[in-house]
Amino acid sequence: MWVKVKIKLNRENFKDYASYSLELSRNSTLLDMLVKIKEELDQSLAFRSMCRAGICGTCAIKVNGRPVLACSTKVFVFGEEITVEPIDNVSVIKDLVVDHESLYNKLKLWKVWYNAGEKNTKVSASALKRIERSHECILCGICDSVCPVLTTSSHFGGPTLLTRYYKLLFDPRNTQDRAQSLKNLNPQLCTHCMNCSFACPKKLMPEALIKEEEKLLQEKGIIKKEEGNFGFLEF
Ligand code: SF4
Ligand code: SF4
Ligand code: FES
Repeated sequence: MWVKVKIKLNRENFKDYASYSLELSRNSTLLDMLVKIKEELDQSLAFRSMCRAGICGTCAIKVNGRPVLACSTKVFVFGEEITVEPIDNVSVIKDLVVDHESLYNKLKLWKVWYNAGEKNTKVSASALKRIERSHECILCGICDSVCPVLTTSSHFGGPTLLTRYYKLLFDPRNTQDRAQSLKNLNPQLCTHCMNCSFACPKKLMPEALIKEEEKLLQEKGIIKKEEGNFGFLEF
């Protein structure tokens, strides 16, 4: 199949869409398409990928307005005319390459890692089941890119961070109580619009995890029931 592709280029002296036309097999992924454009039509095109298997989370792009993993999404899903852009809510380094550093810095700032005890802790199958979605997050940043609250409030942790944070709250191997610090990430500012859950390529349903985090804060008396929206609107 032949496809017409428009790609938003973002460079120091050039910020505009470039058009390409190329032939692809029906099984080609968006990443195959970008590689072919780079190899045959435009060596200067910048995009990022590593695992090519939906594991590393580095290849997130926006196609016809929808954020997806380039390595795990077939071209034909989008038809024969395709517009490719970098994902939103994050700064662009070049073309489709975005800066994940701010996300990694947030994980460091909020110490999203376990404080394990000295003894081994037995983890039941049901406890493991509960935290598995949090563990499966690949940090692609797609959920943050579609979150309307993140664009309006600097007080909201955002779906990526809150998805990762979830395991610290409910994994018995973590010995430090993280509920107090969760308060500073303000899960109650989530409007439950579901954008993140619809967009997550790993189907982790971040919104549902955030809802549980908000409930935990309420049950522990750290926030009041009515302390929810629309505090995300900053004037
Ligand atoms: S459900 Fe909440 S976290 Fe997810 S995109 Fe909407 S506001 Fe953001
Ligand atoms: S929750 Fe889903 S969309 Fe968000 S960073 Fe993790 S894998 Fe990506
Ligand atoms: S290249 Fe690793 S998730 Fe796409």
